[in-house]
Amino acid sequence: MEVRLEGITKNFGSVQILKEVNLVFPSRKFVTLLGPSGCGKTTLLRMIAGLEEITAGQIVFGDRVVNRLAPKDRNIAMVFQSYALYPQMSVRKNLGYGLRVRGTVSADVDAAVERVAKILEIDHLLDRKPGQLSGGQRQRVALGRAMVRKPDIFLMDEPLSNLDAKLRVTMRSELRRFHLDLNATTVYVTHDQLEAMTMSDLVAVMHQGVVQQFGTPAEVYSRPANRFVAGFIGSPPMNFLTAARRGNEAEAGGGVLSLPPLSDDATKAETVVIGVRPQDLEIVPVSGNDRLKGKVSLIELLGSEKLVEVDFVGVRVLVQVRADFPVKEQSEVFVHFNPDRLHVFEAESGQSIVKRATL
Ligand SMILES: Nc1ncnc2c1ncn2[C@@H]1O[C@H](COP(=O)(O)OP(=O)(O)O)[C@@H](O)[C@H]1O
Ligand SMILES: [Mg+2]
Repeated sequence: MEVRLEGITKNFGSVQILKEVNLVFPSRKFVTLLGPSGCGKTTLLRMIAGLEEITAGQIVFGDRVVNRLAPKDRNIAMVFQSYALYPQMSVRKNLGYGLRVRGTVSADVDAAVERVAKILEIDHLLDRKPGQLSGGQRQRVALGRAMVRKPDIFLMDEPLSNLDAKLRVTMRSELRRFHLDLNATTVYVTHDQLEAMTMSDLVAVMHQGVVQQFGTPAEVYSRPANRFVAGFIGSPPMNFLTAARRGNEAEAGGGVLSLPPLSDDATKAETVVIGVRPQDLEIVPVSGNDRLKGKVSLIELLGSEKLVEVDFVGVRVLVQVRADFPVKEQSEVFVHFNPDRLHVFEAESGQSIVKRATL
């Protein structure tokens, strides 16, 4: 089912928490609301669920405005960060609880529980109590409890944040698989950009109650609409260099760099911020076009890669190279800034001014 948010605004007292959010979540897609803590993700999700009043705007499921519909009439399922299973009930009873209280006949409850337990690969655990399960297994039971009702829309608020790092990685791919089996529109909330990038069909990047960009993971990564999105997505984070622009060149770090083609309305931007990812920079042995001379101040081994910190005049950047790349601390190097890999933002507004073909 398609979910449309039209001009959604939320005030708590006199404070505006969400500002005119306009988003369309296509039917059956996995959509993520991504942003730092406090940007309004949970509030927006709770409004979709019907748990939070809407100050202004409309929420539409399919062709039906649901603003006034009670949560139980929205055919949604929710999994929150802190989920509580009934400790005295078996996994089977926990999974079927939501259906039983709605008066579903027991043969249908059993069938639904079996179906979901199979998808989640917890069918061998059905007769255990929650206390006899690992954290990851309990998390799957919580997911299963939400899935048994065949919801149209599946809402998840940071469901992996209580799990340890290794289990989170496994659960990412499992959640993606569940989504493909479940066939519901999924709205997933996280502050973890890697989670968003790996699981989603579409990502809405939020900051201070405003949607900054809505696109596929590839779009928000390679064509960030502004400096906030550019800095929030990707690890290690993008390098930023303030630069004085002259035409299609810019002075930064004690040298001159060629810029990518800029949009037509960018001619007035004299001070720009150049963004470049550590993975997109290259350390080269000799001077040349689009190369800045610098000094290696620090090297950090990451495993198969290493991060090289290079100091230029007035600015410092991180360059990511393979672990076996020959480079020494304190040595002088040249760093190549390939214009095709550069992002350019207007200094004041932070908006991207790069002209790029659509992906
Ligand atoms: N019931 C409430 N009353 C007042 N302010 C609230 C309430 N709930 C959330 N907020 C505020 O709204 C902002 C967004 O919160 P939230 O939606 O929980 O953010 P996120 O989930 O992105 O971390 C925060 O500044 C938070 O303090
Ligand atoms: Mg939250």
